[in-house]
Amino acid sequence: MTQIPQSIDEVQARLNDTGYVCGRALATVVFLSLKLGRPLFLEGEAGVGKTEIAKALAACLGRKLIRLQCYEGLDASSAVYEWNFPAQMIAIRTAEAGGGADRAALNAELFGPEFLIERPLLEAMRPDENGAPILLIDELDRTDEPFEAFLLEALSDFQVTIPEIGTIKAPEPPIVILTSNRTREVHDALKRRCLYHWVDYPGFEREVDILNARAPEVAETLSHQIVAFVQALRTEDIFKKPGVAETIDWAKCLLALDVVDLSPEVISDTLGAILKYQDDIQKLQGSEAKRILDNVSQSLDVA
Ligand SMILES: Nc1ncnc2c1ncn2[C@@H]1O[C@H](COP(=O)(O)OP(=O)(O)OP(=O)(O)O)[C@@H](O)[C@H]1O
Ligand SMILES: [Mg+2]
Repeated sequence: MTQIPQSIDEVQARLNDTGYVCGRALATVVFLSLKLGRPLFLEGEAGVGKTEIAKALAACLGRKLIRLQCYEGLDASSAVYEWNFPAQMIAIRTAEAGGGADRAALNAELFGPEFLIERPLLEAMRPDENGAPILLIDELDRTDEPFEAFLLEALSDFQVTIPEIGTIKAPEPPIVILTSNRTREVHDALKRRCLYHWVDYPGFEREVDILNARAPEVAETLSHQIVAFVQALRTEDIFKKPGVAETIDWAKCLLALDVVDLSPEVISDTLGAILKYQDDIQKLQGSEAKRILDNVSQSLDVA
């Protein structure tokens, strides 16, 4: 079984090896969360690497990644377990057709492990030969408060009671990462259980490193231009700022078009890779793109 990292530097280095570029502050909170066994709650804008860190951590620790994708209306049964109703019905029909079914035996069988569908929270409590899995509870802000309250309890004792089977307790609690885009505030009680970190847009250097890690084929000059332009865009008054994911996507588009140098025309033609709202695109087409590009080129020349 892979050991958990023994220092902040080791967290950084091991995440780096998986292609995840991790700043010191994030590495610190990840290290502490592993060391103290506390859930890690990550908030931030879209596409800044919140979900990716859970994947990277699972990869570098060699642990299984179990993801609970949150959505409006998610309830405990879809998060923990469900009975396989169609399979139960077939079993009943088969028993009936065979005649003389032993009712008690049939009942016990119907509510046994064979008909139990394990959902992420239950799955995360099962022992794994590679060590406790990583449980990613993604986009928590999409669920509602009752589910949050339920989660609070589940995270505090990592056990589930299934009336027909009994109580199942995790031999070793999973490593929990929660993410939110902050479309609403998550309740304090839940936050209090976790270590918190706001994942911000990376600075210039780090975003260039990320781009190098994710799209190494992009030449240095172009990658600097791309990152500087996206960073400048984030300071503009637009509805939806591009995340790191958009930077990478854009770079890949430019690469596919054999672009070696940014120009206002190329930017206009490919804005759809970085901006996803028509109003934003309209605002940036033409002279605005040229203005930003001129500023960016100037600052890159000075640097
Ligand atoms: N620090 C980083 N190192 C390497 N790649 C990164 C980093 N940050 C973001 N990325 C890249 O950006 C992409 C988007 O990241 P991710 O899906 O984790 O964003 P997110 O914060 O979960 O966004 P959303 O809120 O939309 O779910 C990833 O596929 C990853 O390739
Ligand atoms: Mg995400």
